Amino acid sequence: CLWVRNLRLKRRLPGPFAWPVVGNAMQLGQMPHITFARLAKKYGNVYQIRLGCSDIVVLNGDKAIHQALIQHSREFAGRPNFVSFQMISGGRSVTFTNYSKQWKVHRKIAQSSLRAFSSANSQTKKAFEQHITAEAMELVQVFLRRSTHGRYFDPVQEFTVAAANIMCALCFGKRYGHEDVEFRSLLKKVNKFGETVGAGSLVDVMPWLQSFPNPVRSVYENFKNLNEEFFSFVKDKVVEHRESFDPDVTRDMSDAIINVIEHGKDKVLEKEFVEATVTDLVGAGQDTMSTAMQWIILLLVKHPDIQAKLHELIDKAVGQDRLPSTEDRSNLAYLDAFIYETMRFTSFVPVTIPHSTTSDVTIEGLHIPKDTVVFINQWSVNHDPLKWKDPHIFDPSRFLDENGALDKDVTNGVMIFSSGKRRCIGDQIAKVQVFLFTAILAAPV
Ligand code: HEM
Repeated sequence: CLWVRNLRLKRRLPGPFAWPVVGNAMQLGQMPHITFARLAKKYGNVYQIRLGCSDIVVLNGDKAIHQALIQHSREFAGRPNFVSFQMISGGRSVTFTNYSKQWKVHRKIAQSSLRAFSSANSQTKKAFEQHITAEAMELVQVFLRRSTHGRYFDPVQEFTVAAANIMCALCFGKRYGHEDVEFRSLLKKVNKFGETVGAGSLVDVMPWLQSFPNPVRSVYENFKNLNEEFFSFVKDKVVEHRESFDPDVTRDMSDAIINVIEHGKDKVLEKEFVEATVTDLVGAGQDTMSTAMQWIILLLVKHPDIQAKLHELIDKAVGQDRLPSTEDRSNLAYLDAFIYETMRFTSFVPVTIPHSTTSDVTIEGLHIPKDTVVFINQWSVNHDPLKWKDPHIFDPSRFLDENGALDKDVTNGVMIFSSGKRRCIGDQIAKVQVFLFTAILAAPV
């Protein structure tokens, strides 16, 4: 009986037929999360696909994903040893490194220094908020300039510069002008990062494509170059900090990280982890934050009624004599509801960064061996019809209770920052940024 049970557990996971050589690569399409959700209807919420030479398990829906990331958090906390991951942050990235004792120390340092400079106490909270407000005001000025005489313009780069500036202010005590050509060109390259590490990217699962003279090879080369260039930009700043370091004066986050890693009690990490940590932090928020803001603008344009409602709400709660702040939050519940609905509806990070299993594990009765690559479909959680009424409809009011206050039980159901041991460590600061940027952009001038 036990033997039969084991045999059943160890059977191949369900999934679509995989073609020789390419596996299911040709079926992914432009929006892999939609394909994954469609396949889940046929094969269940836990199934297997094959991309090139890798078997990949895809997790869909609230129940299976919660079971994996929360109940089996350690088993699903790994990262695959993809070649591209090794090119990031000098090969010492906290984000792209597999689960280990050393990684746990590294993540804790990144997390606590981020907290120390954004939310540790009312003073740091205020200083952090001032950086964001200053960037948002600058954005308003740039937008007004660029839209004179009713001109159209693309705000992508401006949002990226603003997001990068907030992290540069925290990490280096320095910001860059929107017209700074070098900074803009660096960020433009960094914005291409997602093309290589996303779930739709094939370079890591079909590394043999590199040996052909085809576009995939140049994707790899470009990826390596952009990472080297960005890492060296950050490293220069860290070296300057190291040279003028004074243990009695912590000027910014770079100093704080130098202090813990190089001057702390337990020297678990070599000094090169300082520049790696700062690179991770400065890099992580740019693409994500800029994408979030682009969606916010797009949805405000598409729903002028919501735009008018926000305008009126901010006018009433804040007035025209001062700028909105996080202290206005409880009076601006509809604004938060609009932001949560934007995150749910667009699911603009539809699939997390690939995970891998750190040991054999069983999910929904299905056996997954150690070192299996796992894709986690956040989009499927945000569009799960068992969880959301009419998930395809954009409706911020689903997040408000009968008194018009934000319903925390419902907002907690949105999955955009992942969950468990690999959950985004910038989630709180990202939420403050999106809130203030949107409030200031939507405020009556
Ligand atoms: C990881 C989302 C902003 C730092 C992640 C992951 C997601 C995510 C989905 C992958 C989690 C996983 O693999 O399971 C977002 C979104 C953001 C945002 C939607 C903005 C709206 C930021 C910011 C920072 C940041 C501003 C830092 C300042 C990180 C780091 C990781 C991460 C360090 C790696 C965590 C790990 O591997 O342990 N984020 N993020 N993120 N994020 Fe964010």
